[in-house]
Amino acid sequence: MIKQKEYARRRRQLMRMAGEESIIILQAAPARLRNNDVYFPYRQDSDFLYLTGFREHDALLVLLPEEKGGKSILFCRDRDPEREMWDGRMVGLEAAVSEYGMDEAYEIKEAETRLRAMLQDMERIYYDLGRDPMFDQRLIGWLNEFRGEARKTFHAPEEIHALDHMLHDMRVYKSREELSAMRRSAKVAIEAHEIAMQICEPGLNEADVHASLLHTFTRHQCEPSYLPIVGGGANACVLHYISNKDVLNDGDLLLIDAGAEYDGYASDITRTFPVNGKFSSEQRALYDVVLAAQAAAIGKARSGEQWQDVHDAAIHVATEGMIDLGILKGSLEDHLESKGYKQFYIHNTGHWLGLDVHDVGEYTIDGHSRELEPGMVMTIEPGIYIGPEEQSVDECWRGIGIRIEDNIAITPDEPRILTDGLARSAEEVEALMAG
Ligand code: GLY
Ligand code: MN
Ligand code: MN
Repeated sequence: MIKQKEYARRRRQLMRMAGEESIIILQAAPARLRNNDVYFPYRQDSDFLYLTGFREHDALLVLLPEEKGGKSILFCRDRDPEREMWDGRMVGLEAAVSEYGMDEAYEIKEAETRLRAMLQDMERIYYDLGRDPMFDQRLIGWLNEFRGEARKTFHAPEEIHALDHMLHDMRVYKSREELSAMRRSAKVAIEAHEIAMQICEPGLNEADVHASLLHTFTRHQCEPSYLPIVGGGANACVLHYISNKDVLNDGDLLLIDAGAEYDGYASDITRTFPVNGKFSSEQRALYDVVLAAQAAAIGKARSGEQWQDVHDAAIHVATEGMIDLGILKGSLEDHLESKGYKQFYIHNTGHWLGLDVHDVGEYTIDGHSRELEPGMVMTIEPGIYIGPEEQSVDECWRGIGIRIEDNIAITPDEPRILTDGLARSAEEVEALMAG
């Protein structure tokens, strides 16, 4: 688990970046209704979680860099025995200080009055507008009020600065503790994929495999980091397929995209394998193209290379492979130039990974592709999808969708594959399924 010391370090770093005479304000994610009086399982806002480790709704964090070494103030609900009879143990004000390392904690009901007073004499507010329109209005309302009064009695902040530039850039670089949480969420996902491969056989339903994935995550006290995709046959060509209810047929491939969330951190793994345990020659040929594209991309996942180099390496190998198999006609140069490969290579080769599956952080800086640096974590997930109705290719390729996705940490030297250990090559996959 991420320790309180680390959350405190993150708050200090953010306060240092914001500078004195700033006030930083963040809100917890609201509880969300699913229907009538049933709520979705609660998930804390990732920025809020990153700075507090606090997992309750109805909370507000205020950071004051100006106070000696910076001051952290949490507004939250106090413990309430009656409420706890229904929902279980709450953190409360006392533990917010003693266990969550806050300097002060107050009832969330007091947040507005206290916050309004804290704003006076501040130079800058760091707060992300647009997430909670009601709160935005209140904040802007106070600033307007202050403008009238301020000239007489106190200095009032003039502007609201976006917080996410600073905070999201911090989140891009993972600490040792974060990498170890991510390795753990990867390990759970590896086990879930292994069991799915082992139980898979013709006649099983996608729902059986889906249930097995959830079983493994839950046993390890993890949640799925997103709804698993379990797509047999041509369902693999539907990129966000989540209905997961069709029968798995002999001779088809099964694409599973599933990851676990541990201590807030996501893994995101895709494997594609034959339902009956043995690739057909066409499936194998196309699988090896995607695998080679992934290997080329992983080879570029090094400090000093650029984000775009990773994608370009995968595209180059995948396009060449599709031309060799007769799936794409024409020359490599023409396809790379015209992006003709996009007919079958539809999505990007990866994304940042962390507290969010599609994690925050810029991919370009000043119009240039971002340079990779140690501590960054990304997915590398090349995919080729040939729809069942695709007339431009030989019939034998139709309805095949293949993606291979792993999670990579950039280090000062070799890329570190957090999802290593899970069968990846066709031989490894067949051996695991036979075993
Ligand atoms: N599972 C979502 C993705 O691969 O990006
Ligand atoms: Mn995925
Ligand atoms: Mn992904």
